[in-house]
Amino acid sequence: MNKQVLLEVNQLKKHFHLGKDSTLKAVDGISFQVNKGETFGIVGESGCGKSTAGRTIIGLYDSTDGEVIFNGKNVHNLSEKERFDFHKNMQMIFQDPYASLNPRSTVSEIIAEPMEVHGLYSNKQERQERIYQLLEDVGLNRDHANRYPHEFSGGQRQRIGIARALALDPEFIICDEPISALDVSVQAQVVNLLRRLQKEKGLTYLFIAHDLSMVKQISTRIAVMYLGHIVELTSSRELYKNPLHPYTQALLSAIPIPDPDVEDKRERILLKGELPSPINPLSGCVFRTRWKHVPKSSRNGRRLRKAIMLRAICTIKKILATMTIHQWRQPDKKVSRYEYC
Ligand SMILES: Nc1ncnc2c1ncn2[C@@H]1O[C@H](COP(=O)(O)OP(=O)(O)OP(=O)(O)O)[C@@H](O)[C@H]1O
Ligand SMILES: [Mg+2]
Repeated sequence: MNKQVLLEVNQLKKHFHLGKDSTLKAVDGISFQVNKGETFGIVGESGCGKSTAGRTIIGLYDSTDGEVIFNGKNVHNLSEKERFDFHKNMQMIFQDPYASLNPRSTVSEIIAEPMEVHGLYSNKQERQERIYQLLEDVGLNRDHANRYPHEFSGGQRQRIGIARALALDPEFIICDEPISALDVSVQAQVVNLLRRLQKEKGLTYLFIAHDLSMVKQISTRIAVMYLGHIVELTSSRELYKNPLHPYTQALLSAIPIPDPDVEDKRERILLKGELPSPINPLSGCVFRTRWKHVPKSSRNGRRLRKAIMLRAICTIKKILATMTIHQWRQPDKKVSRYEYC
């Protein structure tokens, strides 16, 4: 059965012009597809461009180049009516539940706002019932409706953010690190809530995080970002079983194992070398300043041989200095894993 593609991102770029000769390439040509009903994860360290990618896809930032196709339509060429529908169908949950809710509005007002903008529920009673329903859907109750954000815990605030995102009955939600500001004990609850809502409402998620262990729990496929580029994209299972890029290997090796004996023996791959600046970055492979620091004492010889081989390819590509494509593999497009650098 063919999967229905809901979102297609083609060579998307977002550059910030900082001054006369200074350009910060926060997102520099990323491509991926998200199928209806799946959770697509984006991981990478702080500053690699995850939030900028999410914000550009939803239209909070204008893109510098590239395409975003949602439900078969290029979101940059929408009519006014289509744009209105697009904003209804794609919503975002933000990283910081403290900053993303207006402290002067009650929970009821916060959730009602998008409904008012989109002219839903002209009947006040009907709208209020819908708000109560949404609060119950996210594990809060109707008594919370008249309270202010500061009266809630971090986890509860994120639930309010989720209720607001659901207010317009969207198809697609960009979850920008929805759990990273939360206590570990609350993170799993919010992930479980997102999973339940996905099942009940048939939602599709773009799930952004830097915690690979949590992304694994929720995502079907994962893209690993490094300095504005996707360096590896594959199914969640394949990424954990057989990570190809040394950067992915390093990220995976940083996940703690909840068994003290295994954790003691765990080998961490620490990448040294400078993280290049995204301001006026060099052309060619963005990972090349870290290549020489991929540790040779890696436990897994097979991985090391692969790393050395890929490093050789990377160096050749650097010499050629013409390649600007950085995806190592993209199963959807069936390219050879060594074709890209
Ligand atoms: N509005 C802006 N103007 C200029 N530069 C920006 C702007 N927003 C983001 N950046 C820069 O773009 C790069 C990517 O930032 P972004 O917030 O997308 O990273 P991130 O991967 O989401 O990081 P984190 O995990 O810390 O949230 C950073 O170098 C950041 O300084
Ligand atoms: Mg971010």
